[in-house]
Amino acid sequence: MAKTRTIHRCGECGAETPRWLGRCPECGTWGSLAEQAVVARLHTGHAGSGASAVPLAAVPRAAAPGAAHLATGVGELDRVLGGGLVPGSVTLLGGEPGIGKSTLTLQAAAGVVRAHGPCLLVSGEESAEQVSSRACRLGATPEGLYVLAERVLPDIDAVVRGLEPVMVVVDSIQTTTHPDVAGSAGSVSQVRECAHALVHMAKTTGTAVVLVGHVTKEGDLAGPRVLEHAVDTVLSFEGDRHHALRMLRVVKHRFGPAQELGVFEMRADGLADVPDPSGLFLADRRPGLAGSAVTAVLEGARPLLVEVQALVVGTNAPMPRRSAQGVDTGRLGMLLAVLERHADIALTKADVYVSVAGGLRVGEPGVDLAVAVAAAGASGGFGTLDGTVVVGELGLGGEVRQVAHGVRRLAEAARLGFRRAVVPRGTPGVEGMQVVCVDDVRAAVAAATTP
Ligand code: TYD
Ligand code: MG
Repeated sequence: MAKTRTIHRCGECGAETPRWLGRCPECGTWGSLAEQAVVARLHTGHAGSGASAVPLAAVPRAAAPGAAHLATGVGELDRVLGGGLVPGSVTLLGGEPGIGKSTLTLQAAAGVVRAHGPCLLVSGEESAEQVSSRACRLGATPEGLYVLAERVLPDIDAVVRGLEPVMVVVDSIQTTTHPDVAGSAGSVSQVRECAHALVHMAKTTGTAVVLVGHVTKEGDLAGPRVLEHAVDTVLSFEGDRHHALRMLRVVKHRFGPAQELGVFEMRADGLADVPDPSGLFLADRRPGLAGSAVTAVLEGARPLLVEVQALVVGTNAPMPRRSAQGVDTGRLGMLLAVLERHADIALTKADVYVSVAGGLRVGEPGVDLAVAVAAAGASGGFGTLDGTVVVGELGLGGEVRQVAHGVRRLAEAARLGFRRAVVPRGTPGVEGMQVVCVDDVRAAVAAATTP
């Protein structure tokens, strides 16, 4: 059985590429690639690749984490990446327009220039002058930082191979186009092909490539899911554009732990690290406010204290509103049903709004109990006791379940002056903290609100 496919072969060195490129990636000759049909034999007559299995233990290990990383000097970025960018890797930085992606990549590139060597900013969105004026304002203009206002992929590739930078930022993947691919910039086929070509560029040059990507309103990366599969690391830059706090979340990371969270503050002079965010998340809190509860969530290795707020307003609408900011709406619906069924708190004739103060999006179930206590408090008009944190997952039966790393969470709460914790049974105590163990949601609400 035989199947025909086309490849592009270099007339100079014979290198093959799956698609046409302006310049041969192997020998660097311009215009030497020509289309050729090849016949791939399937099943019969397959020559084999010559690859053979080797004992896993005999395979040389990749460099130890952190050893070969390019530190960017942006503390929170380096921390979530486990030391910095990996040479030859591709990192996708996604986020809504205006969140600070260009600012973050500029600051990181400037840091890499200072520590490791030349870097290139490829901008398809802004002119070189616009990039330059931002850089000047941030004082990020080290010698060795280059800018290229270009959108066409083979041209970007050629400049990178000529300049040999240690890091390239492509801002953005949605404005980059490949001349061989049909469709306008940002279309699925364009985004996919450009990403694959840039991955190839990273692997063949050893340059660390950062792709900036826009996200849709729903929070997904615009472009195909395959983009996330093609790259080594996916970072998501989040936060409320109208507030200063920005969260950098690791969605996928081939070289270290995922789920790590970095926190920044957007200032007039760029993004500043927030190494101790708990204090900031609680900054505007009014202790004792009805419908408020403080919890300790675990984002990556770091515990964070956040305030969950709820508002419950009576309504006659047949479908009362459930609005959640920072927690999953479906999860909120389930927690309200548990409150109704297992703590006799009637919410079917009420609109319920829940929000995590500070713009943080909490994805872990340890926040459940705080949402339930805040909603119960909002419904009954009472607040949690002064200096009390609430930590735990809620089951459908109303039972309070254990969460991972309870001690770390309580230690963070104690560090910030909390003295009392309402927690699942079995949570170990922490010095200076009165631990109140509860079994179900009814007991949790009572323990959090009455001495
Ligand atoms: P930007 O990095 O351009 O966002 P993105 O590339 O994700 O679209 O920055 C967005 C916002 O940040 C912009 O509205 C202005 C603000 N900003 C500051 O507050 N301080 C600064 O130093 C900079 C560079 C930007
Ligand atoms: Mg931008």
